[in-house]
Amino acid sequence: VVWTDFERATIKDIFSKIDCESVGHQALARCLVVYPWTQRYFGNFGNLYNAAAILGNPKVAAHGLTVVRGLETAVKNMDNIKATFTDLSVLHSEKLRVDPDNFRLLADCLTIVIASSLGASFTAEVQGALQKFMAVVVSALGKQYH
Ligand code: HEM
Repeated sequence: VVWTDFERATIKDIFSKIDCESVGHQALARCLVVYPWTQRYFGNFGNLYNAAAILGNPKVAAHGLTVVRGLETAVKNMDNIKATFTDLSVLHSEKLRVDPDNFRLLADCLTIVIASSLGASFTAEVQGALQKFMAVVVSALGKQYH
């Protein structure tokens, strides 16, 4: 993957500005509400009965932060995202058996939540850079599936 200076600067800027805890929490909760089949992987999270329960579930909040911390690792290794996520891809495929189609769905929820948190500064060019970054992350997470 080749990154322009603008894309590099924009991705670093986004992740320096966002509230990781809030973005992770909102994005994972949104994914579980909008795509309810994703709940099946979180059977040990307890009550995911409706949107309010999902949003109020502390395990959803904690795991949302874990996901964003994972993205931050990718931001720090933008030239090597595939290798950086090898273990995480193996975990999601072989141990967790997450259908890789779901990576894009969570990535879209992250993009939507980041967009609403950045407001007017989320221009078309910024969206373009973020979506490219998310596409690389999604592809890297899917790499170890066979
Ligand atoms: C665990 C990142 C997408 C299900 C994890 C962990 C990270 C992570 C960093 C912790 C790994 C560890 O403990 O070593 C991501 C990223 C994603 C993504 C960056 C995409 C943007 C998904 C999706 C699902 C999923 C779409 C299911 C629909 C899980 C589950 C765990 C996990 C079930 C274990 C949770 C637990 O019991 O603690 N993920 N993930 N992940 N992920 Fe993902």
